Amino acid sequence: MQLSATATVWDLPTRLFHWSLLPLLITAWVSAEEGYMEVHEWCGYTVLVLVAFRVLWGFAGSQHSRFSSFLRGPGAVMRYFRGGEWSGEGHNPAGGWSVVLMLALLLSQGVSGLFNEDDISFSGPLAHLAGGLSSTVSEWHELNFNLLLAMVGVHIIAVLLYLRGGKNLVRPMITGGSAAGQTVKASAWLALVLLAGCAALLWWLLSLAPKPAPFL
Ligand code: HEM
Ligand code: HEM
Repeated sequence: MQLSATATVWDLPTRLFHWSLLPLLITAWVSAEEGYMEVHEWCGYTVLVLVAFRVLWGFAGSQHSRFSSFLRGPGAVMRYFRGGEWSGEGHNPAGGWSVVLMLALLLSQGVSGLFNEDDISFSGPLAHLAGGLSSTVSEWHELNFNLLLAMVGVHIIAVLLYLRGGKNLVRPMITGGSAAGQTVKASAWLALVLLAGCAALLWWLLSLAPKPAPFL
């Protein structure tokens, strides 16, 4: 971690995390509808690893990626809705909580997928542990996806409303933008290590899970 006077608003790991979600969710959706379940499974694992990474990055990332810099109390959120109180840099007080909600929905989507199975030939790696909850898991996976789509819709509308009001939030999410003042920076190498650690953790946790009974 370094302190710097010229830093980006959104560090590269946060931007890569963000823009990977769009193709991954589209591919996960299309592959589930078209029955390419192996593709679906790998998109799901990737989303899970990215979300785990983003949670860690919320503590170890650069200034505006940290939860501590954008999660504010209810008072600040109300004041924001009543007309302002936002420096214009990083997530606004309401947007900060929508980030947490989106991360929670993405996590719930991926985890429910692990326990899900289709009616034909594909099972998530933990589907045999779902027992009598199997149909509930399947319904949750579908409902959660609709909630996620709704949330992404609201997210994009909010970004477009800002654009109409003359504030382009998309550009810094692409270029990084430039943050004013003293800003905590974080190394991209650390991000790579954390990302690899999250992937290894998922692989290890899945390998620990009890295997399905052999089919006789
Ligand atoms: C699958 C679709 C999408 C998902 C799941 C998603 C999710 C997210 C998340 C989780 C963040 C927080 C970033 C972070 O701090 O890590 C974010 C921020 C952001 N997203 Fe998206 N996003 C999606 C699509 C889009 C699209 C299509 C646009 C452009 C129109 C967009 C524009 C932005 C912008 C500008 C921010 C920064 C907002 C701010 O300045 O506070 N997103 N998005
Ligand atoms: C996190 C990203 C994921 C997204 C966005 C996602 C999205 C979806 C969608 C839209 C469907 C179709 C729902 C329906 O109409 O029934 C689906 C079905 C399914 N998903 Fe996922 N999924 C994700 C992760 C996973 C994971 C990690 C697995 C397992 C490894 C998984 C396993 C399944 C299975 C087995 C079905 C078929 C369910 C059925 O036919 O009833 N998903 N998923």
